[in-house]
Amino acid sequence: MDGSLNPQHESIENIAQPTHNERARQRFVSSLRKRVMVDMAQSLRRAYEHEVLPAFKQAAKRPPRDGREIRRAMLEHRYFRAWSSLRYVAQELTWWTVLPQVERNAARINAVAKAVARRAGPGSLRLNPQLPIPRDVSAMDIHLMPGCFHTEFHPDDAVMGAVYNHGTQVFSAGLKLRVKGGGVANSIAQWLRVRFPTFKPKRILDVGTTDGKNLLPYLDVFKSAEGYGIDVGAPMLRFGHALARSHGYNVHYAQMDARQMDFPDGHFDLVVSSFFLHEQSMSSNRAILKEIHRVLRPGGAMVHMELPPADECDPYYNFYLDWDAYYNNEPHYAGFRAGDPLQECVRAGFAAKSTFKTRIPNYTTVPDAEFAAVARGARPAPAHGNGASWFIFGGVK
Ligand SMILES: C[S@@+](CC[C@H](N)C(=O)[O-])C[C@H]1O[C@@H](n2cnc3c(N)ncnc32)[C@H](O)[C@@H]1O
Repeated sequence: MDGSLNPQHESIENIAQPTHNERARQRFVSSLRKRVMVDMAQSLRRAYEHEVLPAFKQAAKRPPRDGREIRRAMLEHRYFRAWSSLRYVAQELTWWTVLPQVERNAARINAVAKAVARRAGPGSLRLNPQLPIPRDVSAMDIHLMPGCFHTEFHPDDAVMGAVYNHGTQVFSAGLKLRVKGGGVANSIAQWLRVRFPTFKPKRILDVGTTDGKNLLPYLDVFKSAEGYGIDVGAPMLRFGHALARSHGYNVHYAQMDARQMDFPDGHFDLVVSSFFLHEQSMSSNRAILKEIHRVLRPGGAMVHMELPPADECDPYYNFYLDWDAYYNNEPHYAGFRAGDPLQECVRAGFAAKSTFKTRIPNYTTVPDAEFAAVARGARPAPAHGNGASWFIFGGVK
């Protein structure tokens, strides 16, 4: 199999093209997700407010205390059942609709990833076939993605990277979550630029980088920086490395467990993650935050985009958000949200006064002036949900 990039396919993410019918199915799934997450979500809230809440209050002589009580009350409601089933199906179809195009092109995806890695070019790829895959990853197909992040079917396999890359586009197409790719990273990088104008990180590490989509935008904002991305899943890194190279980014990818990194102390100016920590057990999270503190230089910053903690949300939104814990193979989701992220930063070694948590708008969906006003603290961020704003927390060492 020829691993040279066909000029028509300038990037590895363009190799697995859908047929007309596959594209139609993917568009249907993106629209279904939008229907479920936006329109039906509003009707679900109305069903709660007009039927479930009054019945609960009548029986208990008080409103529900938390999201778990609301969940128990909603479980039997016909609208919740219909909504939840559709949401589950839309999640499964997100992956299933991209599998045919990826499987059809698997040999070429793998050959191109291998050929790109062999070529001289910016960045590097360091794999460790001996690395044990943590149970947080190997025990189940997280968010119902068949094969999860680590499964390899062939030698030099990058296929799961392609499934993740294409699937997340279907996942977010109706919701503008990853407009132009890497919406989270773009938002955080722009927030850092506005909020801390003198901060110019030279080495940036993204932990749990997956295909690196939420690492690359940092390098657009901090142009002289080198990117580092670690993950336990080799297929993600092979795909991400080819992707970064085809766009000319200088990124060093390594297969490594974030609980025990092999970087020297104080190596990085900025350590980031997105959609990562809520997939870890509490003990893993503590080990990871400690490691991040170790590899940051004094004065360096750590920023995580994560789910908002339960104590920052009303009980209904907690019920709504924690759906993933029950139906989407996200066993640590609710436990993570129940914790206090700033306390965890302090436990990892950050001084309490140097920790922060806030919400920032999605940079790709608001005008620059509005984004800057929120970043400067002059106005509040849009409400959380469907990618309108991101919850971030972290600390400065
Ligand atoms: C939900 S994904 C992160 C998504 C990605 N950051 C993004 O924004 O698109 C979680 C990633 O963390 C990786 N991971 C899980 N446990 C890890 C660990 N202990 N060390 C390094 N990576 C890990 C998984 O393999 C997976 O690729």
